[in-house]
Amino acid sequence: MSIKAEEISSLIKQQIENFDADIEVSDVGTVIEIGDGIARAHGLDNAMAGELLEFSNGVMGMAQNLEESNVGIVILGPYADIKEGDEVRRTGRVMQVPVGEELLGRVVNPLGQPVDGKGPVETTKNRPIESPAPSIMDRQSVEEPLQTGIKAIDALVPIGRGQRELIIGDRQTGKTTIAVDTILNQKDEDMLCIYVAIGQKDSTVRSTVETFRRHGVLDKTIVVSAGASEPAPLLYLAPYAGVSMGEDFMYNGKHVVVVYDDLTKQAAAYRELSLLLRRPPGREAFPGDVFYLHSRLLERAAKLSDDKGGGSLTALPFVETQAGDIGAYIPTNVISITDGQIFLQSDLFFSGVRPAINAGLSVSRVGGSAQLKAMKKVAGTLRLDLASFRELEAFAQFGSDLDKSTKAKLDRGARTVEVLKQGLHKPLAVEKQVMIIYALTKGFLDDIPVEDVTRFEEQFHTWLDENRSELLSVIRETGKLAEQDDMSEAVEAFKKTFSPSE
Ligand SMILES: Nc1ncnc2c1ncn2[C@@H]1O[C@H](COP(=O)(O)OP(=O)(O)OP(=O)(O)O)[C@@H](O)[C@H]1O
Ligand SMILES: [Mg+2]
Repeated sequence: MSIKAEEISSLIKQQIENFDADIEVSDVGTVIEIGDGIARAHGLDNAMAGELLEFSNGVMGMAQNLEESNVGIVILGPYADIKEGDEVRRTGRVMQVPVGEELLGRVVNPLGQPVDGKGPVETTKNRPIESPAPSIMDRQSVEEPLQTGIKAIDALVPIGRGQRELIIGDRQTGKTTIAVDTILNQKDEDMLCIYVAIGQKDSTVRSTVETFRRHGVLDKTIVVSAGASEPAPLLYLAPYAGVSMGEDFMYNGKHVVVVYDDLTKQAAAYRELSLLLRRPPGREAFPGDVFYLHSRLLERAAKLSDDKGGGSLTALPFVETQAGDIGAYIPTNVISITDGQIFLQSDLFFSGVRPAINAGLSVSRVGGSAQLKAMKKVAGTLRLDLASFRELEAFAQFGSDLDKSTKAKLDRGARTVEVLKQGLHKPLAVEKQVMIIYALTKGFLDDIPVEDVTRFEEQFHTWLDENRSELLSVIRETGKLAEQDDMSEAVEAFKKTFSPSE
């Protein structure tokens, strides 16, 4: 059989004319490359930045790099059985998490799915994990205190509701302990807590949750955990998931504190996924937008105006340093974004000064106006006194003859250091903090041997409960100092009952 050339060309013409040009280009794509938790897909031309995408095996991904011919996707889950050629589907939703009171008392992953084995979380609301920070007019200045129950913080670097206070220090310097104790102290306060654990061992998170439960604060806490074994995208998302859950409370007029423990690991996770997405590396191989990574997170902390319900979201980001170097890239970035920092020093920690707060390098730029009046009165100059004591102490080691006033300063300084020490998981009510710091600054402790100060303090607090509880309630209820004569009388009366050890 012979085929005529004209027939072929007419056949082709016919085919072309009838060709249906309406091919679907947007909603389903094909995986063209996969590996290390990152996929590239072709054919998702309409995908939005940050959109949730679903792979054919049900695993979710998030659109990150929108390029001309393909979309870079971070995979939020196990990716071993995703293959080249698999379908990826758009969902039309940006990444969001469940929010609401139902989450209190639960441990969830950054996608809001429970990981504590207590069954599903019955929430009715969702919130996008990326949302703009409250605007200028929606805010008001920070003026109510967030009581941490830690003497060295409440007295020296007070934190206000709506503030962002960085806690920074080397590894094993008691960072997590500060977060946990702060949450424990919220037991009877009108404050909800969110603890975001980033890249921590599951066993550590487990024991933290157990501590919350034992001290009765788990019911007002949400734990968001992205463990060390999770893929980098989940570590990167965890803080945003935590802050979204917090925002829901804030916009409903409540007060919430969100702890990010720690942002160094989040930045490292973000670096990992950026490099895999082939974004250009900058200083310390972090991508160019690592500053924005933290600034857009921390800007979402706020004290809302009364029109907006007056709620607040306090952010306590943590950063781990190497050998006390607060000049490295991530630490300087976060220091510049926050309203102050609490610097924990390992040599203080090892010499037994715990919490190991370096008074000279720690500041709180807005907390002062939020500090309780009573505390402000008694602790006004304590931070500077302590910093100058540290300098004097260095000189005094040369052993030269000291004049009387220098010696007095050193004696007072040594007792200040003792008073500011505090044990593990023992937050102290603010009125008791005020009483012991009053005793210290008025010189009542000057004749107590340094090694007895801790015991003196403990017995003093119990004695106050038993004998002068009305004095404590005056401070607690008014926020102001009681009559100075009454306070001095109380200290003196107690001192008569106290016997120094031999
Ligand atoms: N005030 C304190 N009194 C006594 N022990 C403390 C105190 N603070 C912390 N510790 C102990 O020091 C150890 C380290 O504390 P923590 O885990 O809080 O430090 P970290 O800086 O978070 O460590 P990492 O770098 O491993 O996260 C813990 O065993 C903790 O029990
Ligand atoms: Mg820790």
